[in-house]
Amino acid sequence: MRLSRYFLPVLKETPSEAQIVSHRYMLRAGMIKQASAGIYSWLPMGFKVLRKLENIVHEEQAKAGHIAMLMPTLQSADLWRESGRYDGYGEEMLRMQDRHGRDMLFSPTAEEMFTDVFRSNVTSYKDLPLTLYQIQWKFRDEIRPRFGVMRGREFFMKDGYNFDLTKEDALHAYNRHLVSYLRTYERMGLQAIPMRADSGPIGGDYTHEFLVLADTGESEVFYDSEITDLTFGDREIDFDDKAQCQAVLEEFTSRYARTDETHDEAEFAKVPQDRQRTARGIEVGQIFYFGTQYSDAMGAVVQDGEGNKVPVHMGSHGIGVSRLLGAIIEASHDDKGIIWPEGVTPFHCGIVNLKSGDAEADAACEAIYKSLTALGLEPLYDDRSERAGAKFATMDLIGLPWRITVGPRGLKNGVVELTSRRTGESEELPPETAIERIAQIYGKVSG
Ligand SMILES: Nc1ncnc2c1ncn2[C@@H]1O[C@H](COP(=O)(O)OP(=O)(O)OP(=O)(O)O)[C@@H](O)[C@H]1O
Ligand SMILES: [Mg+2]
Repeated sequence: MRLSRYFLPVLKETPSEAQIVSHRYMLRAGMIKQASAGIYSWLPMGFKVLRKLENIVHEEQAKAGHIAMLMPTLQSADLWRESGRYDGYGEEMLRMQDRHGRDMLFSPTAEEMFTDVFRSNVTSYKDLPLTLYQIQWKFRDEIRPRFGVMRGREFFMKDGYNFDLTKEDALHAYNRHLVSYLRTYERMGLQAIPMRADSGPIGGDYTHEFLVLADTGESEVFYDSEITDLTFGDREIDFDDKAQCQAVLEEFTSRYARTDETHDEAEFAKVPQDRQRTARGIEVGQIFYFGTQYSDAMGAVVQDGEGNKVPVHMGSHGIGVSRLLGAIIEASHDDKGIIWPEGVTPFHCGIVNLKSGDAEADAACEAIYKSLTALGLEPLYDDRSERAGAKFATMDLIGLPWRITVGPRGLKNGVVELTSRRTGESEELPPETAIERIAQIYGKVSG
């Protein structure tokens, strides 16, 4: 992409309504525009990152054996009456009527819809296990939408639902979700810590929230500092192997890590004092096993091996995809702007032409642009006739992890400059070497 042809409406002024850094930078970098309270238009660069996050979620769910589909955003109230949640859900549910006076709602979550699809199509235990999911817009009429996409009213969420014959199988599904979520967040450059969450009226220990540590997080969290040393990394895992998945759950959840909702002073006191941490966190996902609550209420039953009709064991598992943009920026920025992790960056590399109009500089930039593109990478080439300082400021604000700077003086010596956004360190290299470096960083083979 050439910046002269892109749509990147960067703001010079800091928008006064934005209280936290991710919100400020998303507005300033031209990623989103508020349409009304808690509802945002996704401008090209915001949309690009959103799509990248969505793709990572899809890829990791596919590895776990979970199946993608798509449900409508507008749903009939009748299904929600069946589960008993229509009246109970309260003011967060946006309700409406169609022209025939039928009660409709904008889906805040989709347990009922998925349970309905399941019960209409699956009758035998032989079709289990089954986990279906979607990535779809949700609407919750939050009383205080704030912090930009972090607490919107309309937001993009991955929601998955497992259907299993037994509790044991459903807990395996729970563990698969935990593993796949750990991988998902790590690919996004995040550390998201599974913390024991409140299971509400259903009870049981089978719910964890994933929290990204950040001062601006809305949850207060308490944890054993050892937990931040854990990483999943690129280890191989067989998602069908119950023992392997269970071992990961134990590894990542046996140390103390809880939000204020489940915090227990007496338990926390057992953590060695020098490892006790209190901090704030952003909830970026949650997994939940809730047994037969919905299958009982909605008649989602299958025939078991003995011919008995039994309600299926279910759980639901969510990732706040649009909230993740905010969380990533909260976790990765400096006073100049965003610093995208390589896994989610909207463009792999920026190219800054210090002297647009200079024949040699123009040609060198074009050549670098073409080579990177040929490698399957997406560079953003600032070909505008702006001052160098303004170009650097834009690049720093939008946070591409790598920048190649090209100017007539360097070219005389056969070099360009390769700069890391994160460390600010620069190196002078021949253009081919800079391209090779970028290719290596993103796992591409340069010819
Ligand atoms: N209003 C919102 N705006 C953006 N993302 C949200 C919002 N509400 C929930 N999410 C995201 O969707 C995920 C799954 O939804 P879930 O039903 O668990 O939310 P929740 O526990 O009600 O969230 P919260 O406690 O933050 O209101 C959450 O972990 C969060 O990342
Ligand atoms: Mg939650």
